[in-house]
Amino acid sequence: MLILKALHIFFVISWFAGLFYLPRIFVNLAMIPPEAEAERTRLLTMARKLYRFMTPLGALALALGLWLWLGYGFVGLWLHIKLLLVVLLVAYNFYCGLLLRRFQTGKNRRSHRWFRFFNEAPTFILLAIVLLVVLKQPF
Ligand code: HEM
Repeated sequence: MLILKALHIFFVISWFAGLFYLPRIFVNLAMIPPEAEAERTRLLTMARKLYRFMTPLGALALALGLWLWLGYGFVGLWLHIKLLLVVLLVAYNFYCGLLLRRFQTGKNRRSHRWFRFFNEAPTFILLAIVLLVVLKQPF
């Protein structure tokens, strides 16, 4: 079980690298002037590759988490609250995909200021989940 848990934490951290960095690229994309075509293309390529890379990492983190949960019979309110927060993270991941498509089709209407706030959401969810899994009780 410890190998599984170590792999779970490894893929969680890898997924979060993308959840933290992709919205940062969106902040930059929302700031560049329309005529900066080369810069826009460069940032869009980075965002597309990152989104394709981080989504399977998230899927692996969740698969290992489910294996831990269902394979070793973990129970508790902490796990239910954690799963609710995980659903929020999955929704956030796919919303990033939608926002990326809007940038790719020139349909983004959100400001760079909005993306700065949007960028903070995974930080608070991560803090809440780590407190839950370590304390094993709602805090
Ligand atoms: C389907 C989603 C997930 C399920 C079912 C799940 C389930 C679990 C279970 C059963 C454990 C073992 C707890 C223990 O040994 O004490 C665990 C450990 C852990 N999980 Fe998840 N997890 C999921 C997603 C996540 C996510 C998204 C994060 C991070 C944001 C996360 C962070 C952690 C951490 C840090 C540990 C290690 C806790 C410790 O060693 O005390 N998990 N997870």
